[in-house]
Amino acid sequence: MDPLLAALRELHIRGTKGEELAFEELKQQTVRELKENERRVLEHLVRHHPPTWKHSFMVMHDAVWLAERLGLSADDVQAIRLAALCHDVGKLDIHPLLLDLPRSDHIAICKKKHGRVLPGKLTKQFTLYDMILYLAAQAPNQQAARKLIRNFEQWLRERKLDDFLHRSAYEYLVHHQEASARILREYGIDGRIIRYAATHHPEYLDAAKRKAAPRYAQLITIADKFNAMIQSEGVRPYANRLLRVEALTIILHELKQDFHAGVFHSFARRALAELAARHLPSGIVEELVPRVERSIGLLRRALKTQSFSPDAQAVREAQRLAAAIVAVLTLCDELHVTLEHHLLRTLDEYEEELLRLSGTVFHGIGTSVA
Ligand SMILES: [Fe+2]
Ligand SMILES: [Fe+2]
Repeated sequence: MDPLLAALRELHIRGTKGEELAFEELKQQTVRELKENERRVLEHLVRHHPPTWKHSFMVMHDAVWLAERLGLSADDVQAIRLAALCHDVGKLDIHPLLLDLPRSDHIAICKKKHGRVLPGKLTKQFTLYDMILYLAAQAPNQQAARKLIRNFEQWLRERKLDDFLHRSAYEYLVHHQEASARILREYGIDGRIIRYAATHHPEYLDAAKRKAAPRYAQLITIADKFNAMIQSEGVRPYANRLLRVEALTIILHELKQDFHAGVFHSFARRALAELAARHLPSGIVEELVPRVERSIGLLRRALKTQSFSPDAQAVREAQRLAAAIVAVLTLCDELHVTLEHHLLRTLDEYEEELLRLSGTVFHGIGTSVA
């Protein structure tokens, strides 16, 4: 079987029968239409790290949809398609040990190095050498540990990346953006695709380059951020809708910050509205309502029996739900996404009761502990 298709086998979307079938057809068609050099670079990526290829496919799925909804020409849509598929080929420079390192290990490495986790990004707090020493310490014996370190160093040396060994994991990860541009150039990919890939993380660029970044690349940025957030561990296209709300809210917040930094385009806001329209109404309220009702039931019971102690967990869940409801309402409002009126009203009511109950119960926990 085609390696690109084989790696996408476990990837499905949930929707109507027609949408699910169209997604399967999209896989076939996308791979069929690749030119020889495009296929070669993507096969290289899939051999290196299959989850990155799956992620790229999901980014393409959203970015192309956005491009079509925003009325881009067929030529521009095609450029977005290929750039989204190729945006992360720079991950070829990033060792899979780091790409697959779970967050729990990031935390453990920071603690080992600093005695605690410092504020800010975890990957800024340790170097690649710290990481490999940490992994080597878990090897079954000294010999295996030494081999792991030797292989890792050699891997970096062969790619002329050994400079990164004593630099932060963050700097090394950021490097994948310019590596994408370099690798695409080596494979003779079209210049426009390279420019899109080279700016898909505008936050890594200096102010001048950020302002000069091609506008349409923002579709890839938004689809990339969204998909990365809903796939926190591995590729999970079925990520629950609460996570989707949280991801959309974070992106909206970042777009507003960009606005103050002078690089906000109304284009990006429209794109986010389309993304919200795609991912929000399909059952978000239906999913929230029973969870909210369960939460309200728990909190009411806790109040009635005065047994505040057991359920700090329930209060936290209620507060998370209340925040999600606020987020849905804000997103709908700011992005002009229309939810049915009666659903909005229901959420409004729930929000108030949840906040009131969780506040009262939380207060109860506080006083009973004191
Ligand atoms: Fe990236
Ligand atoms: Fe990405």
